[in-house]
Amino acid sequence: MKTIVINASPRKKCNTSQIMKSAQKGAESAGAEVEYINLYDYTFKGCVSCLSCKRKDAERCRCYYRDDLTEIIEKILKADALLIGTPIYFGQATSQFRALMERLLCCVMSYDGEPTYFTGKVNVGLFYTMNAPKQYYDNVLGPSFEVQAMMFGMLNGTVKSYGVCNTVQVRDYSKYSMGVFDENIKRENRKNQFGIDLKNAHDIGAELSR
Ligand SMILES: Cc1cc2nc3c(=O)[nH]c(=O)nc-3n(C[C@H](O)[C@H](O)[C@H](O)COP(=O)(O)O)c2cc1C
Repeated sequence: MKTIVINASPRKKCNTSQIMKSAQKGAESAGAEVEYINLYDYTFKGCVSCLSCKRKDAERCRCYYRDDLTEIIEKILKADALLIGTPIYFGQATSQFRALMERLLCCVMSYDGEPTYFTGKVNVGLFYTMNAPKQYYDNVLGPSFEVQAMMFGMLNGTVKSYGVCNTVQVRDYSKYSMGVFDENIKRENRKNQFGIDLKNAHDIGAELSR
């Protein structure tokens, strides 16, 4: 089993990366060989609509646009599981997450009427970290991400989504103008909930990599 773990946060040691490191450990505990990728280390674009992947003589499920993402896409399509974590920016995944999603899924998407061109199977774990409290995730954000999860269904595997809420955004709130946040609630959540989130990410990583 091969699992690709992607941190789609610009921060390499904060909430999303910690969740993804835990998901990585879960995948490893299930016996998977894991590659961990910090997406922001790479230079790439989203889909440029060249439509080379849709030409009649094109190799299916191949992104023809050449940049740092090309190889990552090839690796994902050869893997058994893909675990991606992203912070929520303005109610959505980061632009880099989105760029990866566009490139990866455009070349497997069929305009010929099939659900997908992809004949393999890649399980997908989507991890979202955010300031929003759990209730808002459950009622508003989570449902809005379901379309995204459905798109990853083009990879034919199980797709699981997990929200990590009320994250601690900065180490010392007293140094920042962030008056809308109650630091005590953030610290409580970190103490009582974040450990559970790490454990759940571990278990999802293991389950999807089995
Ligand atoms: C530009 C920007 C926009 C954000 N927008 C949202 C948002 O719309 N909703 C939310 O719940 N959190 C939002 N956040 C907070 C982050 O999603 C949250 O702190 C996340 O856990 C950060 O992940 P990281 O620690 O891996 O960087 C935003 C953060 C930034 C920097």
